[in-house]
Amino acid sequence: MRTESSPSEVVLVLDFGSQYTQLISRRVRELGVYSEIVPFHLPLERIRERRPRALILSGGPRSVYEEGAPRCDPALWDLGIPVLGICYGVQLMAHVLGGRVVPSERREYGAARLEVVGESPLFAGLPREMTVWMSHGDEVQQPPEGFQVLARTERALGAIAHPERRLYGVQFHPEVAHTPHGREILRRFLFDIAGCRGQWRLSAFIESAIERMRKEVGSGRALCALSGGVDSSVAAALAARALGPRLICLFVDNGLLRRGEFEEVLRLYESMGLRVHGVRAGERFLRRLRGVTDPEEKRKIIGAEFIAVFREEAARFGPVEFLVQGTTYPDVIESTSVKGPSAVIKSHHNVGGLPEQLGFRLLEPLRELFKDEVREVGRHLGVPREILERHPFPGPGLAVRVLGEVTPERVELVRAADAIVLEEIRRAGLYEQVWQAFAVLLPVRSVGVMGDERTYEQTIAIRVVSSVDGMTADWVRLPHEVLERMANRIISEVRGVNRVVYDISSKPPSTIEWE
Ligand code: XMP
Repeated sequence: MRTESSPSEVVLVLDFGSQYTQLISRRVRELGVYSEIVPFHLPLERIRERRPRALILSGGPRSVYEEGAPRCDPALWDLGIPVLGICYGVQLMAHVLGGRVVPSERREYGAARLEVVGESPLFAGLPREMTVWMSHGDEVQQPPEGFQVLARTERALGAIAHPERRLYGVQFHPEVAHTPHGREILRRFLFDIAGCRGQWRLSAFIESAIERMRKEVGSGRALCALSGGVDSSVAAALAARALGPRLICLFVDNGLLRRGEFEEVLRLYESMGLRVHGVRAGERFLRRLRGVTDPEEKRKIIGAEFIAVFREEAARFGPVEFLVQGTTYPDVIESTSVKGPSAVIKSHHNVGGLPEQLGFRLLEPLRELFKDEVREVGRHLGVPREILERHPFPGPGLAVRVLGEVTPERVELVRAADAIVLEEIRRAGLYEQVWQAFAVLLPVRSVGVMGDERTYEQTIAIRVVSSVDGMTADWVRLPHEVLERMANRIISEVRGVNRVVYDISSKPPSTIEWE
């Protein structure tokens, strides 16, 4: 992380592998306090150097009493820096400082009633009873000596603290939206307990990012591969401000885009004043995918082909030293595996690979920002709303929504069904309220009847999810009429489909995409 842009007031989130770690950091930033995620084993010296106002210990999948369970430096508790332990974080605090942590009788997962029992700035002015979100298999049975119990649930201790040592811990997850007062609890910890001032703002970030890019590139030139998505578009907008015509943008049609997307995105870029070279390369991607059914193999082939196309196109512009990428903070965390114990589930190919193979120097102006912050930067820079509010779309495109072999016919089929899903979502006024809405072509046939004829045709699954960051997601309870219109239209307008199903799985345990 480049330190010159990091503000003076920072809160470090020690990551013990929770799926919610990023969410904690985002929530802190939403409160105007700059925050970064660091691995749980970061040496004490490195923590001290950053002069954090506070430390937050994330949750994690392990049990504190297990051998090899992740632990932070034992001197951390005595730094005098305010600490908030969340879930695994409070269990670790309790376990290491002499309390007792035991397996819960039953794993507690979901909403619970929390009752505030003590007086503490952490809950000051909040209702004495509130709903909180729990997800734990262990619990603190007895707090360490000198600790107070601040809150309880029916089955466990909800919050403990040692105010003189400035140590606080909660068993529930204040960072998730399912804990309605979570933001207020974090606010109290940051401002009233840790004394943060909350002056971190994005406008200052934009100025310094432009300045940094100008300095770094000097009189050189930079290339940027656009995807039509928020991240690459905002990165390009920022780079264009810094470099003007010395920025060259490419947008590749890999034959796996949604209907009309290539033309529409190029038009939007033009309206932003970005100079973008559109490259039609669909045929060669589809040729490479012939006969391939394995999801990871599809992703690798598409990634490699993208690099080949990019290399050829880039060569036409003569020597270019820099590459602008829309890497965001979540990508940085995932690809440097600060995430510690939590596993990489799918190989997302948009980070890494490209610059190493092409010998570029990398510019990643968004690498400190979360998605919603990227959107806000985009708004400041006048990036059109159609791009900022665009649903995320996987790099490998429709290939991971055609289960089984990716043929031009099957891509066209899922593209037609997808267009109907999106049209109906828009018509119902729901496009900006959902995270993603799309169609998936399943590799199964089933029997149907159309008119007097028996049919034996394919199945489309509709997936519509809500999410805040793509890390967790829930299926959207769409009105039945909307589902009905989608299903009727897909069956009557898309040849080869005689059945439509709606995906009602959440993430976890499922993922958003099917491959
Ligand atoms: P999953 O399926 O892992 O997806 O729950 C989480 C989010 O990431 C998007 N996604 C990708 N984005 N390259 C990308 O740029 C990829 O290979 C990729 N795979 C999944 C997905 O659409 C969802 O928003």
